[in-house]
Amino acid sequence: MSQTGVAVQNLVYAYSNQQPVLQDISFTLKVGDRVALMGPTGSGKSTLLENLIGLKQPLSGKIWINDIPVEPKTLPQIRRNIGFSFQDANDQLFMPTILEDVTFGPRNYGVPPAIAIDKARHLLAEFGLEAYANRSAHELSGGQRRLAALAAILALEPTILILDEPTNGLDPAWRRHLAQVLLKLPVQVILIASHDLNWLSKVTQRALVLSGGRIAIDSDIQPLLQDTDTLDKLGLPVGW
Ligand SMILES: Nc1ncnc2c1ncn2[C@@H]1O[C@H](COP(=O)(O)OP(=O)(O)O)[C@@H](O)[C@H]1O
Ligand SMILES: [Mg+2]
Repeated sequence: MSQTGVAVQNLVYAYSNQQPVLQDISFTLKVGDRVALMGPTGSGKSTLLENLIGLKQPLSGKIWINDIPVEPKTLPQIRRNIGFSFQDANDQLFMPTILEDVTFGPRNYGVPPAIAIDKARHLLAEFGLEAYANRSAHELSGGQRRLAALAAILALEPTILILDEPTNGLDPAWRRHLAQVLLKLPVQVILIASHDLNWLSKVTQRALVLSGGRIAIDSDIQPLLQDTDTLDKLGLPVGW
């Protein structure tokens, strides 16, 4: 039986004492899938991603990562497989220097210091940050912090990569470079929440669109991006 990367069945999520922001969400991401999670601001993209990695608990429904059910007792195992970048990169960088941020995860999993540092320097160079290795995150620009957070995630060589608004704060040259880096990665599943539709069309093949707390569309991304009327109705006007 082939492995399923991410499976979600009838997920419902509500913030405390509020109406559900996610209702009856079901989808499956297979090994090899590169998927865009689209939907207007406030449609629940970040909330859904945080449910997938167990940071938020659904009211009902089930989630599996690599065929393992997401439950409190499986979280260490689940998190070992997932690379997750927060919408706010500041949530990810907490060590005195960027180099320590990028070596933190591998060191935690027992990688020897010299190997972790070598890999971190390589990743920082990939993202143009080699000169910043010994600086702290708050000495970096917003875009540089995002790239440093991505370096920290990739250092763990995740099999599943989940990114929340990864192009925020990046100029066109870095957006293009990030797309090239992502396309080269040997990860098994990529799920990216973004409103950067043109960029998404370069790195993903399939789109899930959230609307009214549900998955309104699950289709190939290229034809969807041509269907500007449908996108406009879903709150995703093209070219703005
Ligand atoms: N901590 C919170 N408490 C209550 N409501 C929240 C909280 N975080 C987000 N929301 C609400 O949940 C909805 C979905 O938010 P979010 O998942 O951040 O959307 P998106 O990432 O698509 O912009 C929004 O209406 C937002 O106001
Ligand atoms: Mg969000």
